[in-house]
Amino acid sequence: MSRSSSEVVVRAPGKINLALGVGRRLPDGFHPLATVFQAVSLHEEVTARPADGFSLTVDGLHADRVPTDASNLALRAAHLLADHVGIDDGVALHVHKGVPVAGGMAGGSADAAATLLACDALWRTGMSRDELGELAATLGSDVPFCLVGQTAVGRGRGDLLTPALSRGEYHWALALRDAGLSTPEVFRTFDEVVGGVDGEPEPDRRLLAALRSGDPVSVGAALDNDLQPAALELAPELAETLAVAEDAGALGVVVSGSGPTVAALGRSRQHAVAIAAAVTAAGVADSVLTASGPVPGARLVVTERAS
Ligand code: C5P
Repeated sequence: MSRSSSEVVVRAPGKINLALGVGRRLPDGFHPLATVFQAVSLHEEVTARPADGFSLTVDGLHADRVPTDASNLALRAAHLLADHVGIDDGVALHVHKGVPVAGGMAGGSADAAATLLACDALWRTGMSRDELGELAATLGSDVPFCLVGQTAVGRGRGDLLTPALSRGEYHWALALRDAGLSTPEVFRTFDEVVGGVDGEPEPDRRLLAALRSGDPVSVGAALDNDLQPAALELAPELAETLAVAEDAGALGVVVSGSGPTVAALGRSRQHAVAIAAAVTAAGVADSVLTASGPVPGARLVVTERAS
């Protein structure tokens, strides 16, 4: 196969789970979910260059906390696509991180989604978005959503997606904690402290109606996460973070996904900045960011072709 592309750059967004309903653990070890994802304006950027073998470098937010061995989801995504299409080419990957590591915002999943798209372009494998989505689901439950972005309902493990209508722009203050939480550990704690009910959880109709009408007050009131008690069990100080953001007038406050990132919905961009400032002043987060959503999923930003 000829190496005609010299560099491909893809950006993929992180996410907030506006609602996360979790059912009882199934025999396969996973939990049935009904979640509403919103992609937000924190991005991972993956650069892919032709190479004989597979390699990975990382910089940006919390880069020192990212494993660069074979367990890295970006490397796994590149190997998976190469094996799937049966090509011998390698790739040199560089990941620039903008999504908190182990924060419940799908940073690693965004790397995997961006890598699938970048390698597809670099190697000209011509996969459809649906085919990439199927590969994505084998890498992790959140990877398909990072490909499609915007607002979507996730069922099954979170990987069976239906786009959701959403009006308006939502502005978030994000309170980060240096020590991340492990997703499997949060689910295990959920099994112990909550358990969940049998059967498939249903997506929150009140939240979906609020998103359709573009009413941030109702969206804020409907934010909900069944994993929150488990995240609080593992990181009790998050209770204070939630309380400070609420006192700062957030329309709603929720732990994102398996945490520990706390997402607080502001009335406006300025209000989100004010909530972030209140969280910083109270010393109840290691750092803060602001972001808005929804935003598109993984997309090509640069393709440089060798002449
Ligand atoms: O799919 P992903 O690799 O992100 O999942 C990480 C871990 O989170 C799984 O190994 C499992 O322990 C837990 N999980 C779960 N139910 C889901 C999704 C993830 O129990 N629906």
